Amino acid sequence: MTVTSWNRLAATSVLLDGFHALKHAVRFGAEVPVAVAVDRAAALALAEELAPDVRDTLDELLTEVPESTYTSLVPRPHPTAVAALAVRPSRAANLDRLARIPRAAPVVVLDQPRNLGNAGAVIRLAAGFGATGVVTTGTLDPWHPTVVRGGAGLHFATAVERLTVPELPPGPLYALDPEGDDIRGVKLPDDAVLAFGSERSGLSAELRTRADHLLSLPMRPQVSSYNLATSVAMTLYHWSTGTGAPLQGRGELRD
Ligand SMILES: C[S@@+](CC[C@H](N)C(=O)[O-])C[C@H]1O[C@@H](n2cnc3c(N)ncnc32)[C@H](O)[C@@H]1O
Repeated sequence: MTVTSWNRLAATSVLLDGFHALKHAVRFGAEVPVAVAVDRAAALALAEELAPDVRDTLDELLTEVPESTYTSLVPRPHPTAVAALAVRPSRAANLDRLARIPRAAPVVVLDQPRNLGNAGAVIRLAAGFGATGVVTTGTLDPWHPTVVRGGAGLHFATAVERLTVPELPPGPLYALDPEGDDIRGVKLPDDAVLAFGSERSGLSAELRTRADHLLSLPMRPQVSSYNLATSVAMTLYHWSTGTGAPLQGRGELRD
């Protein structure tokens, strides 16, 4: 592995920063053309302890490099001194996964999010709950290196794509807003599209217009809102419990 070949691949790949990101990406089927470690034996020992299922794959993938080479490849050294490049899934493949009906688990939509850390945390949540995908609208790139870092390599466990509101996947659109009806009374279907507003201004007018149902998370009156990622966590948890009553038809909850 030369620095030149890394740099050539880096232009079209996703940086997996640290052992855990590499472990997750490999586990969820990412194509990893190159992976490096400052201490290969230590990385494999970590795999044996924490991820024996991917130990042999990492043994094949990892090349030991001097610390000076490793630090020249990554913007911020990771405590595990492991890094890799993974091939980003194609937009066509992601769109296909997002559009497929019937769907076994919801799609999460972040409507014009601003905070890269929130987006990473939401992708990690979506992976944990087995959500079909995470879609962002607006300018934030959900494959930005900081989002990938926050997602701990779990972008490969779900379909992550940026779309416009008219391009959102099919399925009943449940938009989360403190002014909506109490989510606890509503059973979220597996084909739901669950939308959350931006950190600063909430749901956009375009998304509100498109929404079939407006739902709220329980909250004391003097608190104005929850953090975006924690709202996604509560909503996915509610979906996973399968509780509440099914809803039929557009706008049934409103007015
Ligand atoms: C930080 S909040 C946005 C706050 C923003 N100032 C507003 O006016 O809505 C980000 C998103 O989290 C979700 N959210 C936060 N608290 C919620 C609640 N109590 N019920 C439903 N959704 C909530 C909503 O989707 C909201 O748009």
